[in-house]
Amino acid sequence: MPDSGDWSGVPAVEDAFLPYGRQSIGQDDIDAVVAALTSDWLTTGPKVAEFEQAFASFCGAEQGVAVNSGTAALHCAMRAAGVGPGDEVIVPAITFAASSNAAFYEGATPIFADVEADTLLIDPDSVAAKITPRTRAIVAVDYAGQPADYDALRVLADRHDLVLIADACHSPGATYKGRKTGTLADMSCFSFHPVKHLTTCEGGMVVTNDAELAAHMRRFRNHGIDSDHRKREAQGAFAYDMAELGFNYRLPDVQCALGIAQLKRLEEWVAARQRIAALYDTAFSQVPHARPLAVHGDRTNAYHLYVVRLDLQQLEVGRDQAFAHLRARRIGANVHYAPVYWHSFYRARGYERGLCPVAEHAYEELLTLPMFPGMNQGDVARVVDAVRELKRL
Ligand SMILES: Cc1ncc(COP(=O)(O)O)c(C=O)c1O
Repeated sequence: MPDSGDWSGVPAVEDAFLPYGRQSIGQDDIDAVVAALTSDWLTTGPKVAEFEQAFASFCGAEQGVAVNSGTAALHCAMRAAGVGPGDEVIVPAITFAASSNAAFYEGATPIFADVEADTLLIDPDSVAAKITPRTRAIVAVDYAGQPADYDALRVLADRHDLVLIADACHSPGATYKGRKTGTLADMSCFSFHPVKHLTTCEGGMVVTNDAELAAHMRRFRNHGIDSDHRKREAQGAFAYDMAELGFNYRLPDVQCALGIAQLKRLEEWVAARQRIAALYDTAFSQVPHARPLAVHGDRTNAYHLYVVRLDLQQLEVGRDQAFAHLRARRIGANVHYAPVYWHSFYRARGYERGLCPVAEHAYEELLTLPMFPGMNQGDVARVVDAVRELKRL
């Protein structure tokens, strides 16, 4: 399969499985990893700070705190926000469970806000309705790659003295009113899982302009210890203090080296995703039973996912059969996401169906289609054909 930016019309391989997401690894990435592997530092060496600075500066922000997953990034942000037992954290119903699990890690209670019907982004009106004296933070999720309405959320956060956290795992490179994700909230969390825009195999980062929050998260990711091994080595010192109960969330140097190499192509990959989305949009304008999600005029979408809503009134089949049809065509359709509180862990804690009606209704119609920079026009056409066929089932 051609790499990013190859639009030469290479035909799709009809029977090859087309996943919904896939990493792009080139020789530069391999060379960077090998060089790090043969250096003195496998973990917490010079590549960590280099990656943090490079990624934060890609976002236009001052501080980056590298960690070993997007989930760890969310946990760090919760701790730095001061979220604790008895607090409530508002999270959208449609997201990956990690967004709300992070509140549980700190003994707090996630409260689910509903989403906008056309974008599936957290609805600021629903957030406003769910704020109580116990609310401590809002986690906005840039679902599928489009930034949430951060100006509206900022007004609410300021009015009620809340910390605004962005779960930007889907949206590196996207913009809101000309500003990049990573600068839109008090802390922004990214994931470097292989299906994301750039990968460190597993990995993540919190980006912020607040040096104090960043220092706290650097300590928290290192067991709560306020100096790392390398710093002590440089000072010829052995003593350290564990000031709070932290975790080992460190991202190794070898993986940071991969991240630095990947980052050089991030801009190009976001553009490739946007080109693929434009091809899908044009094609689906002629397919009345599949409606792409709306994109607000004041934002750009980094398209981690390309999601359509099926108009089930026009089809004889439901979403699950539509999913099965695409899989039979060897197309790796997916569904992102069932409302988080439908999971049994949440149900066992008293969350009930009916909490967020817009999200629950949307879920029945959602289908995620393949989206990654290495796709070509033939791949897009193959997916659109399979979706078009749903009308004949
Ligand atoms: C919205 C969202 N938040 C958080 C995460 C967690 O990231 P990770 O898998 O790197 O822990 C993901 C990853 O799938 C995600 O999609």
